[in-house]
Amino acid sequence: MRPSPVIAHRASLAHFVSDPEICGEKACEFFEDGLLVIGESGIVVEAGAAESLREKYAGVPVVAHKNTLLSPGFVDAHIHFPQVDAIACGGGDLLEWLNRHTFPAEAAFADADYAAEMAEFFLAELLANGTTTALVFASSHKCSADALFARAREKNMRLIAGKVLMDRNAPPELCDTAESGARESRELIRQWHGAGRLGYAVTPRFAPTSTSEQLHKAGELLAEFPDVLLHTHLSENRRELDFVRELFPGEGDYLSVYERRGLVCERSVFAHAIHLGGDEWRRISARGCALAHCPLSNFFLGSGLFDFARARELRMRIGLGSDVGGGNSFCILRAMEEAYKTARMRGDNLTGMQMWHAATLGGAAALRLDSHIGNFLPGKEADFVALDFAAHPLLARRWQQSQTPEEKLFALAMLSERPTIKNAYILGELAN
Ligand code: GUN
Ligand code: ZN
Repeated sequence: MRPSPVIAHRASLAHFVSDPEICGEKACEFFEDGLLVIGESGIVVEAGAAESLREKYAGVPVVAHKNTLLSPGFVDAHIHFPQVDAIACGGGDLLEWLNRHTFPAEAAFADADYAAEMAEFFLAELLANGTTTALVFASSHKCSADALFARAREKNMRLIAGKVLMDRNAPPELCDTAESGARESRELIRQWHGAGRLGYAVTPRFAPTSTSEQLHKAGELLAEFPDVLLHTHLSENRRELDFVRELFPGEGDYLSVYERRGLVCERSVFAHAIHLGGDEWRRISARGCALAHCPLSNFFLGSGLFDFARARELRMRIGLGSDVGGGNSFCILRAMEEAYKTARMRGDNLTGMQMWHAATLGGAAALRLDSHIGNFLPGKEADFVALDFAAHPLLARRWQQSQTPEEKLFALAMLSERPTIKNAYILGELAN
């Protein structure tokens, strides 16, 4: 049954009802003068052209937005909560950056009070950037995941997170054990998975920081809890690949290290996946895995150029990740821009439609949340972002001159900065 309408927002609307890879530009519904009608409990009742819906919802109060595009909230498919203070720390590739900046920043999350304070900061930063859902790495401390889940629950956000598993090749204060990591993950799943809008992801950091035993236990958790996700890094940096070969001799390619331990399935979300071999592409797509494309961090750390075109050809589910702190911005609009530039560096193309799809419905599908969020179809949860397409004169001109939804979405991604993002709404309520 449809909820009764409570409020309507009148603005330009853009959302995806399918994948532009399959349906082309028809995948996107764009209403220059649109109406988004929201019902009880923050559920979408209907979205469409204001002209055709105005009479039907005549008694419903309307909030009229000027120069505003409403989009489903951005989905950040890969981000690290305890790396807020490792952001914009330059010098060195992934492995150097982890040791020099990231591990010290994460060590501070052993303190539950500090973790609670940072959870507030982190979630506010997500919302200020129009990100209403994220797949999040906590630190290896259970209390960091508790703090993040507790605060996200209060804000009623749809968020998936997990405590990092790592039991080697990291400072001792950050290491758990195969046994304690699995036990704490199980406790966190029981407490938070399905609480409100929260979900859990079993989160081994990456192959180099887990023993074979720990990865096995992560696979056992996946089998035990059939709707939790698996979230990890894969094939991001060439030195990382060498390290994996050294640590898991005779095991074949990087993906096979995860395959052998039951970590490669349709619930797996792999961040980066830059340096995959041909057979890894075949296997990872055949297993129905999702990928998080993290271009901000791939440029910042100099990791490489993700082959988005190939992943799309293989019809994989792909989201965009900020990968903060490896990425130097929380802003998914900036990730779109860098995704475009990555494609150009490879000699490929990326349309406005493809970028916005990955940032909204595609990201939601990567996280297996597309039956709840990602567009404005009736019954979806009304998490959305209001974007000011006249935020600065140059953007206003470019928007005006753009003839098609494709041109408008492309321009907004290329010329947007934080001032463009006005507000985020969670279940129809203003959230920042
Ligand atoms: N690989 C292992 N840990 C990390 C991390 O924290 N950030 C990134 N970008 N890659 C990783
Ligand atoms: Zn990462």
